[in-house]
Amino acid sequence: MNLSENRKSFYITTPIYYPSAKLHIGHAYCTTIADSIARYKRLAGYDVFFLTGSDEHGQKIQTAAAADGVTPIEYVDRIVAGFQKLWERLSISNDDFIRTTEERHVKVVQEVFRRIYARGDIYLGEYKGLYCTPCESYWTERQLDEDGCCPDCHRPVQEVTEKAYFFRMSRYADRVLKYIEDNPEFVQPVARRNEMINFIRQGLEDLCISRTSFDWGIPVPIDEKHVIYVWFDALSNYLTPVGFLDDQEKFNKFWPADMHLVGKEIVRFHSIIWPCMLLALDLPLPKKVYGHGWLVVDGDKMSKSKGNVVDPNLLIDEFGADAIRYFLLREINLGQDGNFSRDALIKRINSDLANDIGNLLHRTLSMVTKYRAGIVPPAAQQDETGGRLVADGENTVAEYEKSMESYALSDTIKLVWSFIGRANKYIDESQPWVLARDEADRAKLDTVLHNLAESLRVSAVLISPFMPQTAPRIWSQLGLDDVKPLGEVRLEEIRGWGGYPAENHIGIPEPIFPRIETDEEKAAKAEKAAKKQAKQARKKQQ
Ligand code: MSP
Repeated sequence: MNLSENRKSFYITTPIYYPSAKLHIGHAYCTTIADSIARYKRLAGYDVFFLTGSDEHGQKIQTAAAADGVTPIEYVDRIVAGFQKLWERLSISNDDFIRTTEERHVKVVQEVFRRIYARGDIYLGEYKGLYCTPCESYWTERQLDEDGCCPDCHRPVQEVTEKAYFFRMSRYADRVLKYIEDNPEFVQPVARRNEMINFIRQGLEDLCISRTSFDWGIPVPIDEKHVIYVWFDALSNYLTPVGFLDDQEKFNKFWPADMHLVGKEIVRFHSIIWPCMLLALDLPLPKKVYGHGWLVVDGDKMSKSKGNVVDPNLLIDEFGADAIRYFLLREINLGQDGNFSRDALIKRINSDLANDIGNLLHRTLSMVTKYRAGIVPPAAQQDETGGRLVADGENTVAEYEKSMESYALSDTIKLVWSFIGRANKYIDESQPWVLARDEADRAKLDTVLHNLAESLRVSAVLISPFMPQTAPRIWSQLGLDDVKPLGEVRLEEIRGWGGYPAENHIGIPEPIFPRIETDEEKAAKAEKAAKKQAKQARKKQQ
């Protein structure tokens, strides 16, 4: 029997993004979280399927394309190419990228419609309602905000009346409510779960799932005048790439999804509408919908009109992808809102990256080069400080797993950095430069150097889900590429201390994160230079 058949699977998705504008740092945040979880699960030995993509239909796109003087498909092609490029630059390890304009997806959506229609849960009715075009959402009067606007984006809604198909969602409300109540892990964090329970308890109305006022969408298979409502279309994307309709074995392996990671404002679509659709299809419900918080910039919501939209590409140009990934994951607790500021980013780079991990690497490699000609010696007897480091290392790996299994990404990073701090302190405590002076201390120095190389080996593995570009660089500098490529290493290989191969030659040392001058430092420097110039000018005059 093939062993891999028994491996646990893990299917994680991000939302599929609207190609209505360029992606900003908030989108990058969402995708980076999902990527780090996917990478962690691979590290832990799971067979992972990680999906992201683009949600390309709807009136908003049709209008934007017309304004640009291009066809909708030309419009989305261009923007989606930008998404893909950005994910590449951020080292997003998605296994597939679904575009809702692809034939494979259109087929699935039409089949979903057909099946639900066939069991009598889709009917033709008349829609009179309030529609928010930017959010592609219908609202009832009582859901509007106090100004009578969209409760999500607070922009005006439009009244529409048209013949439309409805999904009999009311029929599934009780079952979805029961599923949410019976499975406390289904909707997370708990505040979102409570919101959803209250929402359903107020009563679920049938959902209008077709439109006739525009045509940029998937045609209703039984009535081509209608296009399918963009959320009905979009949610079905999660079925398409894991074999629904065309690969039953793959589908059995990955469905139900283990985690739909979504922003907090679309938890409702994923934990109510989507489960209703799945129940109507007789498919199992996803195991988890996790609603992450919103990223604001210097305390303010990002918006075009405020001109404070942060472009992740520019940040990558300036600081590199891993620094951005690190910042987002370290700074924000999953589920809560978080703040992006350039200042805070530079501070983190300098303290955690250039200083903590950067110094540990630099000091270790320099000492191995200086004292042992680049060859990491075997460890002899651990002394008390060494023993503490070893215990801390092993404990960190155990805690790391627990923390990642509960998706506490920021806490996990703190845990790893506390270990890195411990390793730096170990250098100060064991004073290798003193040990190097006396041949009698040879074994002691060997042990210190080995412990340090091992600390870095363990750290490289632990940071690899968060910083997929930096971890392999550390790995190479430790001279481990020929031992085993980092991508093939599994978590179990760092559970016990001492895996760095004795007598292994390190690689070529190079700085991983140069220190960045803060804006304050730059200003202070400029001021100093100006003063000096003025002084010189005065001297010349005298
Ligand atoms: N197309 C729908 C999703 C369909 S999924 C079947 C959509 N697209 S979106 O492009 O508007 O948003 C995609 C995701 O980006 C959402 O989860 C949203 O929460 C997230 N973000 C958009 N702005 C954000 C921040 N400022 N911060 C964090 N995430 C944010 O909704």
